[in-house]
Amino acid sequence: MHSHEHDSTDTLLRIHCWLHMTSSQIGRMVQLVTLVLILLACMLSSVSGKGASKISLASTTIFNVMAFGAKGNGKVDDSPAFTKAWKAACQSQPNKRSILVIPGGRTFFLKPMDFEGPCKPSSIFVQVSGNIVASTKKTDWLGHHVDTWLSFNTVNGLTVSGNGRIDGQGSIWWKNACIGSPPPVSYNIFFIIFGFKKCNKMRLNGLTHVNSPRVHLLMTKCNGVIFSNLKIIAPETSPNTDGINIAGSTNVVIRDSVIGTGDDCIAISGGSSNIKISGIMCGPGHGISIGALGGDDVVENVDVRNCTMKKTLAGVRIKSWQGGNGYARKISFTGIKFDAVYNPIWIDQYYCPTQKNCINAASAVKLSDITFRGIAGTSSMDNVINLSCSKSVACTNIVVDSVYIKSAIPGRKVYGTCINARGRASHVKPSLKCLK
Ligand SMILES: *[C@@H]1O[C@H](CO)[C@@H](O)[C@H](O)[C@H]1NC(C)=O
Ligand SMILES: *[C@@H]1O[C@H](CO)[C@@H](O)[C@H](O)[C@H]1NC(C)=O
Repeated sequence: MHSHEHDSTDTLLRIHCWLHMTSSQIGRMVQLVTLVLILLACMLSSVSGKGASKISLASTTIFNVMAFGAKGNGKVDDSPAFTKAWKAACQSQPNKRSILVIPGGRTFFLKPMDFEGPCKPSSIFVQVSGNIVASTKKTDWLGHHVDTWLSFNTVNGLTVSGNGRIDGQGSIWWKNACIGSPPPVSYNIFFIIFGFKKCNKMRLNGLTHVNSPRVHLLMTKCNGVIFSNLKIIAPETSPNTDGINIAGSTNVVIRDSVIGTGDDCIAISGGSSNIKISGIMCGPGHGISIGALGGDDVVENVDVRNCTMKKTLAGVRIKSWQGGNGYARKISFTGIKFDAVYNPIWIDQYYCPTQKNCINAASAVKLSDITFRGIAGTSSMDNVINLSCSKSVACTNIVVDSVYIKSAIPGRKVYGTCINARGRASHVKPSLKCLK
């Protein structure tokens, strides 16, 4: 796949130039171009699913960032060129499909920038074969109007795909992460590598994301999203560098990815529903998390399956603050493997990031219809199933079935605990008599 993508990108460059060629050259090019279009068709349909095979390539326009003045030497600021290329792709004819090409073998230096929609074409394909690096100068980041480095807003039918590496160069920010306390104004940051806001029918595929200052990928108010075959990597010690955050989004699929960032691999927050997560290798980090929820947050229909957690602080977790009136329901974790995980199965309705002023409240986010099934592995802590529901609002219909968790330390006994958790446990080791 690697060499194919590289070939096709090189040839895309050539297509771009063919208008400048003599007719005999064009003759020789025709075969090649036909080949490339077939190749492209395979590439597009393999990335964007069944529907894509219907797309006629005759109606595709290619925008290569190099043709818009990008240098790709890792030093010169390429964001003006990217902005121009994006505008051209986005404002192209409505009945055509735009392909924005970021060619391989190069590294593009980008300051924070927006890929603004809505766009005229019904779909835009961003082919990321090259690498992209962020600025390490704080003034570059702080001068931007939003907290996201590469921010896609209201773009429908967007596909971002390729084997490029996106490097947020976040280490200078990690020292000033200010977890749980109001940060000094100049460090009031929440920088995200890739932000997708109000993007419907979106695909992200194949990329490697490393070292975000904060969250690596954030989707906000998106509907119809597929993220697949991603690698998201940051050091275990980097603070608040979640892999993927899903906020206020619906119909989301995240699959077949490796996420190890030292924080949540995937976090799902309020307003999200119909979320399917599968085939995730998670760790080091904090596992897969719903929450923290509070206020009127609602999360519903979440299906997490076939995931492996390695040495994570939590495995599968639902967390909420004290207080609030929202709910989380119809959530299932199936086919999960744990390897030396600290809190494998954890409902935490006492979540308190500041470690203080979190008093017990009379209301709580209501949790119901939560299933943990077909889960096995080892834990580095003795309390392997911790269902700590609110004392004022019980969790209901919690099902723990076919769950077998041992200690990662030979000979140590493990146990489970509950606060106000109602439901049933079957085929569970350690036994969970407190759930009834
Ligand atoms: C489970 O996930 C792994 C990747 O972690 C993948 O290779 C495998 O095909 C998946 N199995 C199923 C049944 O989906
Ligand atoms: C279970 O979770 C609760 C809520 O976060 C926490 O206070 C408690 O210490 C945990 N129990 C154990 C034994 O780890």
